Amino acid sequence: MDISYIINELGEEREQYFHALAPPIFQTAMICSPTVAEMRRKIRQESEEPFYTRGHNPTGDILRRKLAALEGAEDCLLFASGSAAVAAGVMANLQSGDHIVSVSKPYSWTNKLFTTFLPRFGIRTTMVDGTNPQNFAQAIEPNTKLLFMESPNSWTYEMQDIAQVVALARQHQLWTMIDNSFATPLYQKPIDLGVDLVVHSATKYISGHSDTMAGVLCGSKAMLQKIFYGEYMTLGAMLAPFNAWLLLRGLRTLPIRLKQISATTAQVIDFLQNHPKIEKIYYPFLPQNPQLDLAHQQMQGASGLFTIQLKAKSIADIEAFCDSLQRFLLAVSWGGYESLVFPACSLVTSEDQPLNGLNWQMVRIAIGLEDSEVLITDLEQALARVPEV
Ligand SMILES: Cc1ncc(COP(=O)(O)O)c(C=O)c1O
Repeated sequence: MDISYIINELGEEREQYFHALAPPIFQTAMICSPTVAEMRRKIRQESEEPFYTRGHNPTGDILRRKLAALEGAEDCLLFASGSAAVAAGVMANLQSGDHIVSVSKPYSWTNKLFTTFLPRFGIRTTMVDGTNPQNFAQAIEPNTKLLFMESPNSWTYEMQDIAQVVALARQHQLWTMIDNSFATPLYQKPIDLGVDLVVHSATKYISGHSDTMAGVLCGSKAMLQKIFYGEYMTLGAMLAPFNAWLLLRGLRTLPIRLKQISATTAQVIDFLQNHPKIEKIYYPFLPQNPQLDLAHQQMQGASGLFTIQLKAKSIADIEAFCDSLQRFLLAVSWGGYESLVFPACSLVTSEDQPLNGLNWQMVRIAIGLEDSEVLITDLEQALARVPEV
């Protein structure tokens, strides 16, 4: 199936809604049944067809089919946020006494799930440097059930060799799960590499417009059915029909947005690489990245998120840089049409406070859809405000 067919046509059964070209928002909590026999059939098939919107909804189901196909998965569940999808996927295969091996420095609320939330239910996590698959192997215990990856991560972009971690999981009969938000389903295909569950914060590129929160969990039909009748229906963090519709709309332009964002990112990085006030740049496809071969091996492209480390004497220098930017907005998250900066120093109040593997000189940049010259000009004038070291 070609990508444009998936995005434009798959799942759009227009005869069901007056042949409207764009699908409607089925803003309904329930779907009626004409007879008791039909109602019974739907209740028994609840994980398959729309019946009650906490489970499925016709607008969301169009999106499910498209996202599953893009990811190369049998099925997909939609959540109210990426964090809800991460939590449901992780919890699905664990019980008290179990153990997880996770890559270190996962997204902050995933980290909180592992370090604070799950221990309340007797589930421990060991965090490892995931750049060497042997570290996963060494951390496996007799009660380990899940190997969790986030490749690349969203500040320093370390990668895991997905195929090797999957091979290890198979050897020990463990589940694998990966957060694929950075690469999107277009630039990395973990299901093809054998990963069991793929999660996305669809708040990012899949939505693309910074106006909705959403999460996606992709995997086999059997696994997602188990999650549907467990965490999904019980915790009830499903995606509202309107938000599903916004995502459908955002998805139409995902390939072209990513293409533009990747090209602009390359140009902006090119400018920054030779700038005297930049100490270091973090991005998977840089020639100096020790994991560059792995990036080429398992990713088909990189999106528009990267981190710069400034040559600065104090947090005040970083603030001068960020506060001077005219076209980059100061905000968390990424993946929208607008360019953003997120300085690590906004997480601390002094240079000596710990930053969990980051440092206060780092500023994360998310490139949007503006012209590269506009962004470069803006960065140039803001860098001029940083005093020479
Ligand atoms: C890598 C990554 N995964 C998951 C999430 C959580 O997604 P959401 O904010 O949609 O809950 C985020 C949010 O920033 C993220 O950066």
